[in-house]
Amino acid sequence: MAGKRSINDTVLTGKRVFMRVDFNVPIRNGQVADDNRIQAALPSIQTVIRQKGKLILASHLGEPKNGFEAAFSLKPVAEKLQDILKQPVSMAGDCIGDAVQEAVLGMKDGDVLMLENLRFHSGEKKNDPVFSASLSKNIDVYVNNAFGTCHRAHASIVGVPQLVKDSAAGDLVIKEIQYLDTAIRDPKRPLIAILGGAKVSGKLALIKNLLPKVDGFLIGGAMAFTFLKAMGYDVGGSLVEDDLIEVALEILDLASEDGKLFLLPSDAVVARYAEPGVAVKIVSISDIPPEMKGFDIGPDTIRQFGEEISHAGTIVWNGPMGMFEIAEFASGTFELARCVAASSAISIVGGGDSASAIKKAGVANQITHLSTGGGASLEYLEGKILPGIAVLPDA
Ligand code: 3PG
Repeated sequence: MAGKRSINDTVLTGKRVFMRVDFNVPIRNGQVADDNRIQAALPSIQTVIRQKGKLILASHLGEPKNGFEAAFSLKPVAEKLQDILKQPVSMAGDCIGDAVQEAVLGMKDGDVLMLENLRFHSGEKKNDPVFSASLSKNIDVYVNNAFGTCHRAHASIVGVPQLVKDSAAGDLVIKEIQYLDTAIRDPKRPLIAILGGAKVSGKLALIKNLLPKVDGFLIGGAMAFTFLKAMGYDVGGSLVEDDLIEVALEILDLASEDGKLFLLPSDAVVARYAEPGVAVKIVSISDIPPEMKGFDIGPDTIRQFGEEISHAGTIVWNGPMGMFEIAEFASGTFELARCVAASSAISIVGGGDSASAIKKAGVANQITHLSTGGGASLEYLEGKILPGIAVLPDA
């Protein structure tokens, strides 16, 4: 992908800078529960403040219906940012309208204003041109610093940059693209993809796009059972997408024709149901009792996957190996996280679940790049053009 015009090549001093950020962060008891996305956006935020621009931050949070809902207010995020920046962050009551305009026009150089949740207006998701025009009013520079939302063709992502004369990519977008591009276009080999999560259907496009690029796949999570069933294993009550058995077979054939490593679990942690405290058993993949379901990879699989990870040059990881939210089924994901952290490979982890597992395993600072994008990083790795990136001018 051609380099995009960067915020660092843009004159910001005295300008009203509309920065789209992805502050779609978990809020618990009225407070930000994980500030990873806020921290990741800081370099460009600080650039605007340092250069004495007037910084207007815009984000969505969750899925409000239409109109203000206190549970989806960005106020706790503004408070968190204020603590981090150690300077006032004013909170607007809305993201468009007269009161917002008054606040915007009253800003001094170096001030920071947080707009209220963009999705309080249905025009955001519809990419409504009238809504985009209201957001762009009196704005001099548009900056997209919201990698996690670049796969959405929403007003603040594609509508506004088409209306503002000067637009650029923020540091976070540039950094994410660089890591993902390097991993799939010019990787240190062998390049190993670790894929997990519940469904093959959610990862089909990713597997197909990665097949010619990677040297090997390590497949865990419930999606592994569709492949195992396709190979003739009896997987008991484990989650299987029966309509994808044919596709799974095709993928297995393609991988073997290309001589690609395609490792599936050799054992699993099984139980009757997924609940904390449930009785579990570790069984070989060929011995899953009919009344049991697989909820995690077993110790033999961890050892085999760990061996491959220790020889990898680059690792791309998307999706957990099991239901790690439940302690009984967390070992596979956490052990692999530790193996990835201990390896000397360049490691790139994407997807909200995988990123949260990495953090819970306590190894986040040993991962080369923890993407802030869930759907966005997945779609990028699938080879899709993200609308939010496509709309930005080239360098
Ligand atoms: C995310 O959390 O993946 C992004 O903020 C996008 O959110 P969305 O899936 O609600 O559009």
